[in-house]
Amino acid sequence: MNIQGADRLSKLPVYLFDDLDAQKAAEVAKGVDVIDLGVGDPDRPTPGYIVEALKQAVDNDKNHHYPSYKGLPEYRRAVAHWYKTNFNVDLDPEKEVLACIGSKRGVADLPMALCNPGDVVLVPNPCYTAYLPGILMAGAEVHFMPLLEENDFLPDLDAIPEPVRHRAKLMLLNFPGNPTAALGPLSFFQKVVEFAEQYNIIVSHDAPYSEAVFDGNRQPSFLETPGAKEVGIEFHSVSKVFNMSGWRCAHAVGNAEVLACLGKMRSNVDMGVFQPIQYAAIAALTGSMDFTREMCRVYNRRRDVLIEGLNRLGWNVRKNPASFFVWTRVPQKGISSGEFAAAVLKKSGVLFTPGRGFGEYGEGYIRIALTVEEDRLREAVDRIEKAGFVYI
Ligand SMILES: Cc1ncc(COP(=O)(O)O)c(C=O)c1O
Repeated sequence: MNIQGADRLSKLPVYLFDDLDAQKAAEVAKGVDVIDLGVGDPDRPTPGYIVEALKQAVDNDKNHHYPSYKGLPEYRRAVAHWYKTNFNVDLDPEKEVLACIGSKRGVADLPMALCNPGDVVLVPNPCYTAYLPGILMAGAEVHFMPLLEENDFLPDLDAIPEPVRHRAKLMLLNFPGNPTAALGPLSFFQKVVEFAEQYNIIVSHDAPYSEAVFDGNRQPSFLETPGAKEVGIEFHSVSKVFNMSGWRCAHAVGNAEVLACLGKMRSNVDMGVFQPIQYAAIAALTGSMDFTREMCRVYNRRRDVLIEGLNRLGWNVRKNPASFFVWTRVPQKGISSGEFAAAVLKKSGVLFTPGRGFGEYGEGYIRIALTVEEDRLREAVDRIEKAGFVYI
């Protein structure tokens, strides 16, 4: 039998981390103890009180059935409570909160729920890789908004050509940025709201790292901006903030009509988050934020250890204000991000993500995840030094 995938599948790239996993596996097979600074997956366990809430909920057989795709009313209330406490944003749990099986799924479904073939989606570049598949599957067109260092990695709305503005249906944003680690200030969000109102563009802000901020910085919610709820939604997730990446629980909040479209799409393709996981997430969202603040201090120290180490080797790395990532220029001249990352992996056993994997404007950069302990980061710097990646 001749089995062929759909034509549209051929538009999708190989998943970036499949490629990195293969490179890593090849080194591991040679016996190398790879220090993986690739994926931004929280390395420490989920806090005990959250695991405990799951255990109790699993023991209750009322939770063994199909869950509602919308999320339990208690879960949606907990999300609304969390937004009020953390951002002073008011949400109607009934219409303005929708649970998702991870925000990756949510951001991928959104363009399919909103866009027709020929609509334009404004997408930051470099960006999180899951933004593109849903757009391509919807038959919509991508218009990239370059994220440049000289512009603090914010999209330049003035640079979007007038005809594109008129055809745009959706704008995707993400702060703190993956991979850029940039913050999105309220002043920028205000411009986005005005732009969206003028050109009738729906805005989706993806904010899974909103609490991973350093040096007294703060990442506002997009929904804090006056008028934001009229034009858009925000995705948030318990994955990063509460070390719950494997649990697959997140939410979209904001504009009720946009959420109704997303909900209709989702109700037709999945059944919702397993209820015990929702109860665990409720424990996370309604509990103290002490754990998150402590994790933030951990990432902050790791960032300092790594950057001070690399700067000793002449890498000239800027301190990222937020997120789990250091985003820095390839320190060697005349070499692509992919070639540099491959050379570092081969010679030192340290795995970075080449910036090109996040889009053409990621070329020239590498992304380094802070999701390993400080002693491993020190060892990574030592190995990099011994392998000769020194630029002083
Ligand atoms: C910007 C961004 N959005 C969404 C996600 C996915 O998060 P979740 O675990 O909620 O699917 C990630 C994960 O790396 C991410 O970096």
